[in-house]
Amino acid sequence: MKGIILAGGAGTRLYPASLPISKILLPVYNKPMIYYPLSVLMQAGIREILIITTPNDNENFKRVLGDGHQWGIQLSYISQQVKRGIADAFILGKEFIGKDACALILGDNLFYGSGFEALLSQATQQPFTGATVFAYEVNDPTRFGIVEFDKKGTAISLEEKPKNPRSNFAVTGLYFYDNQVVQLAQTLQPSSRGELEITDLNRLYLERNLLHVFCLDRGFAWLDTGTHESVLEASNFVYTMQINQGIEIACLEEIALAKKFITKKQLATQLQNVPSNNYYDYLKKLLQRK
Ligand code: G1P
Repeated sequence: MKGIILAGGAGTRLYPASLPISKILLPVYNKPMIYYPLSVLMQAGIREILIITTPNDNENFKRVLGDGHQWGIQLSYISQQVKRGIADAFILGKEFIGKDACALILGDNLFYGSGFEALLSQATQQPFTGATVFAYEVNDPTRFGIVEFDKKGTAISLEEKPKNPRSNFAVTGLYFYDNQVVQLAQTLQPSSRGELEITDLNRLYLERNLLHVFCLDRGFAWLDTGTHESVLEASNFVYTMQINQGIEIACLEEIALAKKFITKKQLATQLQNVPSNNYYDYLKKLLQRK
């Protein structure tokens, strides 16, 4: 399975903080925002990843993340010239996807909770058919794509930012699709806001009875870091979890080691270029772990 991170967008809601650099490269506590969605794809075992950026920020992403070899993955980059919506990722990424299934994650989504990796592996079981999305109960359903369930818990409708939401379950910004997605995305028409909506794409799978919806339970954290307040909230969340438990959230080196994408020997070599600070100490501890 391949993976795409959508890291475009003008970041208007984060103006002027987003003036110097793409909002997806702004820090969420001690890491660039993109580390969080990248960590999710790596946890799902995905090693070939395309990053879609704005033309202005393409070089910045390359400078920050490189080709991914340091984490045992392959990163490639493409620019979205005009903002055409989330589902445009599958039109832009057509060649990259080839004949494979493909995951998509939004660059400003942070997922954290116990059992997540097991859920990801359940959600991506091979052979992968249809589409899988994750629902999460939210306070303000008018801000998101919303899924409605029947009494048996089967998804029955999907609506993008509804004025009168039929449920409080948002569809989060992590999606898994089989290869049909490339063809289905090309049949989409722009919405009233001129975008190819991911909700319209998911609806095509729903209509074909091919949409699987997994609910993230209430102990789980899903944060969409699209506003100043939510970046601050996410930073505070990451700080609190890390300081209390002495762990790092979205430590790409740790995931790469756990997934056997890299060896301890490779990490030891990389450490020579990491400045001495708390993050260095954490990586050093990983090397000593049995
Ligand atoms: C997008 C999607 C929406 C989804 C949300 C998750 O909204 O259109 O369906 O629920 O991401 O973050 P946006 O953040 O672009 O407003």
